[in-house]
Parts: sequence; C-alpha cells; structure tokens
Amino acid sequence: MGYSRRDFLATAVVGSLSLGLEGQESKATEPARAATDPTTGKRPIIVCAKNGLNYLDEAFGMLRGGADTLDAALRVIRGPEDDPNNDSVGLGGIPNEEGVVELDACCMHGPTRRAGAVGGVRNIKNVSLVAKAVMEHTGHVMLVGEGAERFAVAQGFPRENLLTEHSRKIWMLWKEWQSSRDWWGPGIDAPNWKAPETVPDSELWQQRIQKLEEIAAGLAIEPEFRSAAIHRVLFPPTGTIHCSALNEKGEISGCTTTSGLAFKLPGRVGDSPIIGAGCYTDQDVGSAGATGTGEQNIKVAGAHTIVENMRRGMSPQEAGLDALKRIVRNFNGDHNKLRFMDMTYYVLRTDGAYACVSLWEGYSPTDPHGMAIHDGTRRIEKSVGLLKGNSQEFPPVPKIPPELLKNSDYYK
Ligand code: GLY
Repeated sequence: MGYSRRDFLATAVVGSLSLGLEGQESKATEPARAATDPTTGKRPIIVCAKNGLNYLDEAFGMLRGGADTLDAALRVIRGPEDDPNNDSVGLGGIPNEEGVVELDACCMHGPTRRAGAVGGVRNIKNVSLVAKAVMEHTGHVMLVGEGAERFAVAQGFPRENLLTEHSRKIWMLWKEWQSSRDWWGPGIDAPNWKAPETVPDSELWQQRIQKLEEIAAGLAIEPEFRSAAIHRVLFPPTGTIHCSALNEKGEISGCTTTSGLAFKLPGRVGDSPIIGAGCYTDQDVGSAGATGTGEQNIKVAGAHTIVENMRRGMSPQEAGLDALKRIVRNFNGDHNKLRFMDMTYYVLRTDGAYACVSLWEGYSPTDPHGMAIHDGTRRIEKSVGLLKGNSQEFPPVPKIPPELLKNSDYYK
C-alpha cells in the first residue's frame, strides 16, 4: 500500500483491536458504530482502503454537492490509479512475472442495480473507469484481456506504458534474486503443500538481504528505496483499493481496483474484478469490498457473503467476521497456513453503519490493518482482527527479522 506508517500514526486512530496470544480468535463482538446524523438521521459517508485517504476530501465534497455515489467512490480509487508512486494499482503497479502490468477492477451502482468489471487489462491506467464504461456502454458485465483493452481504447482511454522505472527495477530485483523460487507449483490449499523449513537463523537472513542489496545496487535502485524494494521482493504484495459511498438519499455504490498479486502468472485474475468477491453492492442492504489474498476471497465470495449476512440481520462487523471465518474453515483453522495469507473487508450498510474487519490484525505490530472513512470527519480506524497477531505474506519465508520490518513502508 502506498500509505505510510507515519501518516497513519498522525491520523486519529479509533478501534477496538485487542492484543493477546498470536493466532487466537479475537473476542471482539461490538457492533459497528452507526454514522447517522442525530438531527437529519442521514449523512453521506465514504469508506475505503487506507491508501484512499488523501482523496476522501474531494470525494466527500462531491457527495455533499449531489454527485452520484459511484462517481464519488471512483474519484477515490482513481487517485492511486493515477499516482505513479503507488505500486498497488494503476500506473506504476508491480507487474506480473513477465514484467507486464495487468490490472483488474469492478464497480456496482446501487441505484440502478448495474455492474461492470474488467480483468487482466494491459496498457490502460484507469481500469476502474473502464469497468464503469463496461457497465454503461455494453450489454455485458465483464471484459478481460485484449478485448477489454480494445474496448477501452474505443471508449477514448489512452494506451500508455504502465511500468514505471521504479516498478521495473523491483521486478528485475525479484527476477534476478528468484532463481528457482516462483509461483509455479501447488498452491497453499493443495493437500500436499508443505510449509518450508523455517530457519530462525539471523545469519541466513543477513546473507539473503546482503545478496539482495548487491543486486539492487547493480540495478541502480536508489539507496533510499532499496529496503522498500527488497521488502516487495521478499513479501510480494496484493495491493488493492476498495471504496464504498453512501449519500444523504440512502443511495450506495462500490468499486475496487488493483494491479493484483505482485509477480503473478500472466493472465492471473484475482478477486478484485469478481462481482461478489472483490466488491458487492445491493441498494437494499449495503456494500462490501476486499483487499488481500484474492484466491482465498474468491472461494468464499467474500463481498457477497457479507452483504447477504447483513440482509439476514447481522451487523456489518458480524457479517465481515463470518466471511473471514469461512476462510479459516477452508484451512481447518491451520494457522501454519493461514499466516501466509491475509484479508481485509470494508463494510458499509445503507443506514450508515460500517465496519472494517481483517483476518489478522496487521502485517506487523506497527502496520495494523484499517479503513479510511469520511462522514464529515476524515480519519483512519483500525480493523477488528479475527485472529490475533500478524500475517506473514506469501510466499512463505522464515520469521521476519524486526530490523527488516522497520523498513517495510514504501515511499514515505
Ligand atoms: N486482492 C487483490 C488480488 O488478489 O489480486
């Protein structure tokens, strides 16, 4: 994510994160705080992934000015898509294993009950807007690959090179260091998957990091970015941004965009463009979206599950935690597997109640999961973690030395 720890700490943090033994289920059961205005009973609210924070003021102003809820939500997620320094979405996204940026996005418009999505799109930066164009200008819901790109060009979107020099160098660092390690082979959910031997040997880490430092220097990666680039290689991210927006009339929409899993196989499509997984919005109930390990979210149809849970009476927080429990169930609660994945759900009900829940409490004690919110006050709130402790990103590696975690933020 392109959101720094320093920004996070500088922002008002409200949350009910409880600390305890790693891997135990959180006992947090508080219902999400309603955001309704006591005088009118209604007010606009936007919720999104933390990396949307800087775009919330403008989007909230749009809602206040009567803009459509989907346009306001798209304003938020278009921001990081346009930002070459944000390597989780759009321009400058970390590429696939062949060095090609492939983007996914979807949107749902509550008032008209329509949806649009694109997957595996190359050379087009604002795929969230292409998803909207699919919704508005075709009789389809989803376009993928070359067809989606050609459609975007026909709609007037410019073709451009999405691989920034910075993301290219991170990819080269990954390729040169990778040797025989890659994404081929059985996935973590395969019966014969085995956790690699963990070597809690700081000397081994020192050797690995030293080798990466040498390769990074050879690639002319600027010294100040080397630690961040190495972190991306050791812990390939699934950067994504989701946003849901509700206006004073009670109209609600949602959208999600991503460059997907770093160094993925070409053609891999994650959860973000899948209606019902990366995003789901129902004007009668609410909206939900996801960031995290897409493969696991697809299998529980996370966003749809959450909205249906709310339809049956669960609070936003209960609904989100239930979806997370389904992921835990898919791995029989095996924390040796679960710690190599993560998931954060952003949930907004049509009455303004909301919640942010995550499989783990954060990527590290100093990098907790959370959600950016604007309901008149712009802020970050921590997520409620289902499992206590922090995930370790895929692919599995030995325990992360604390000195490396200090450098895990990107582009401070
Ligand atoms: N959640 C983003 C992805 O897995 O592609």
